[in-house]
Amino acid sequence: MKKARIAVVGAGGIGAAAHLPAITALAEQAELVGIVDLDEARRAEAGERFGTDKLYSDLAVMMEEQHPDIVVLATPPHTHEPLAIQVMRAGAWVFCEKPMTGSLASVDRIAAVEAETGQACITVSQFRYSGGARQVRDKLRSGEWGTVLTGYANTSWYRGPEYWETSWRGKFATEFAGATTTQAHHAIDLLLWLMGDWSSVAGFADTLDRPIEVEDASTAVVRFAGGGMATLLSQVLSHQQETRIQVTAQKATIDLETLYMPLMDEWTVRQIDDEGQSQVVSDWAEPEGEKQAHREQLANILGHWRAGERPELLVAEARATIEFLTALYKSAATGTLVKRGEIVAGDPFYEAIDAGGPARAEAKK
Ligand SMILES: NC(=O)c1ccc[n+]([C@@H]2O[C@H](COP(=O)([O-])OP(=O)(O)OC[C@H]3O[C@@H](n4cnc5c(N)ncnc54)[C@H](O)[C@@H]3O)[C@@H](O)[C@H]2O)c1
Repeated sequence: MKKARIAVVGAGGIGAAAHLPAITALAEQAELVGIVDLDEARRAEAGERFGTDKLYSDLAVMMEEQHPDIVVLATPPHTHEPLAIQVMRAGAWVFCEKPMTGSLASVDRIAAVEAETGQACITVSQFRYSGGARQVRDKLRSGEWGTVLTGYANTSWYRGPEYWETSWRGKFATEFAGATTTQAHHAIDLLLWLMGDWSSVAGFADTLDRPIEVEDASTAVVRFAGGGMATLLSQVLSHQQETRIQVTAQKATIDLETLYMPLMDEWTVRQIDDEGQSQVVSDWAEPEGEKQAHREQLANILGHWRAGERPELLVAEARATIEFLTALYKSAATGTLVKRGEIVAGDPFYEAIDAGGPARAEAKK
């Protein structure tokens, strides 16, 4: 099998916990050709753990010496745009951690380089590749469960004070926004992917308790182009940690109860039987082996790469989620319902995902 040459930039939390293990687990399809990190100790530790001495502090040097096919960006959010552009211009695909970047203006700059170079910038969205997610989506999209009506996504996680000791977290300049974009990104992206095109959103976002600039909680109501509606709760304050998603269509209600990585058996599908009773359906999906979500998304990318095809979740597709998050923050800052398509160049929210956040943080001082 043709092996892709893959390098990882950022051997911190998610780089070492998910991306580097995913590459080594897919050793028949991928070769780890470099680890880049500014932090020497992290580089050395990752090199030892993942069996490579191709360790770099400079992305440009690594690109020049190793000529990777794909570069994983597992660095803080504010670095994604410059690094993604650098990688694509140097001739490789990018597999970029979420959030892809911090504004629609930045998304459009990345999209322009993707188009200009013919390379790919793929956003990590591992919930779409977790056990069961694609099967639920296929059923919803096929119409077998009827029209999609309602839904919710509840990301109730807990992050204590030590979480914000990492210098880039909690600040507008480096994280861009908070719980909605950093922690709830996965559940929101999955709900939007399951329910279809969103058309408008109204929300609240604020920093209720934690000593950070970005929001630690938000709520929102969403309307979909197909008529459906949904609610969102995103927070890092909950002592009962859970991620819950529910979608109700005409003929089925689909529930996911998970935390960080959905598994097949965490989905439940209920339908009304002939007697009008709600029943759990056991044969709604094809059985699947255990999935490690980052690995599954990488395997999907590698399949497209070997076939010479464009991969999934390029900038244009990921833009819809960033636009949605931006619209939620705009609604929170302006107290208005925000419609899809209304945030364009000239709007302060086009330039910054949470353009209202700094003023909100200042007002709280
Ligand atoms: N998909 C997920 O489930 C998930 C989970 C956690 C974090 N993330 C995302 O992954 C990204 C990284 O988060 P983290 O928690 O791993 O951060 P982290 O701070 O633990 O690690 C980031 C690493 O990048 C290195 N780095 C920073 N700037 C660099 C640069 N210019 N060149 C090379 N190395 C550089 C740092 O030295 C550090 O080792 C963020 O965007 C975050 O939102 C995603």
